[in-house]
Amino acid sequence: MTEPASVPTGGVVPSGAHAVFAALLEARTGQSLGHNRAWRLETALCPMMREHDCDTLDALALLLLSGRHPGIADRAVEVLLNGETSFFRDPGVFAMVADAIAASAAGRPRLWCAGCSTGQEPLSLAMLFAERGGDMPEIVATDWSDPAIARARAGRFNQFEIQRGLSAARMIRWFDEAGGAHAGDWIAKPELLRPIQFRRANLVFDGPPAGQFDAIFCRNVLLYFAAPARRTVLTRLAGALKPGGVLVLGAGETVIGQSDAFQPSGRYRGLYEPVPRPWAPRAAAG
Ligand SMILES: C[S@@+](CC[C@H](N)C(=O)[O-])C[C@H]1O[C@@H](n2cnc3c(N)ncnc32)[C@H](O)[C@@H]1O
Repeated sequence: MTEPASVPTGGVVPSGAHAVFAALLEARTGQSLGHNRAWRLETALCPMMREHDCDTLDALALLLLSGRHPGIADRAVEVLLNGETSFFRDPGVFAMVADAIAASAAGRPRLWCAGCSTGQEPLSLAMLFAERGGDMPEIVATDWSDPAIARARAGRFNQFEIQRGLSAARMIRWFDEAGGAHAGDWIAKPELLRPIQFRRANLVFDGPPAGQFDAIFCRNVLLYFAAPARRTVLTRLAGALKPGGVLVLGAGETVIGQSDAFQPSGRYRGLYEPVPRPWAPRAAAG
């Protein structure tokens, strides 16, 4: 039996530790760990506290600041990120984006999943386009998290993950049962993974992938960002879209009041289009 995730601080997050981990997370990823999300610190960092024999979050923060364990910072950021995802999350959006692309894309469509976590979103797109027939898009899928990208690249999902959002028919059509050490898991078929390039990239500090895109999915990522980082990223995303391209945000997200780089699409409800700026430099074609 695993130990219960006890809360050594009794539910009260020391403000010193909160400040240290919030600054680390924001410096590395642009994400803001507001006081309303402080509870995540304890839940997420509890195993690290045990590993490093720290009784309190303050002690773990001091160990981080001491620089004696260089890996501690990366690991803390990793566990503080929320990688929640599922297949065909908000299913109506996928069909709408496929329609938008069919109406505007010339040649092979290019899609970017920015903040793709463990890959369910780009794989859902690959399934959808394969089932519709026609040109398979080129899909670039990026995330800050190395382990998430490694898992996405492997295309392997456990029983719980595979059932979230995927019908039995799609599961059988597009995935094979794993054997050996991974028995019980399901692995995406090679033809599903082939159009997807998975890469580690930081939305705040790295430029967008080369070339321009017909659609960018950046769902459930920017809501955790501090306002300046969110604005910077939205401006960058606008520059990475082809004319007529669309931005897809999460169901609870909007660009309204966040950035003047995008406006709600007049054609597709819930999608966003870049505000035309004829004087802006164009990204290099790729
Ligand atoms: C909640 S998941 C969303 C996954 C998927 N887009 C979806 O909606 O199902 C957010 C993802 O954003 C990634 N992320 C957070 N900050 C990032 C950054 N600065 N650069 C790239 N990815 C980031 C996290 O690692 C995580 O995998």
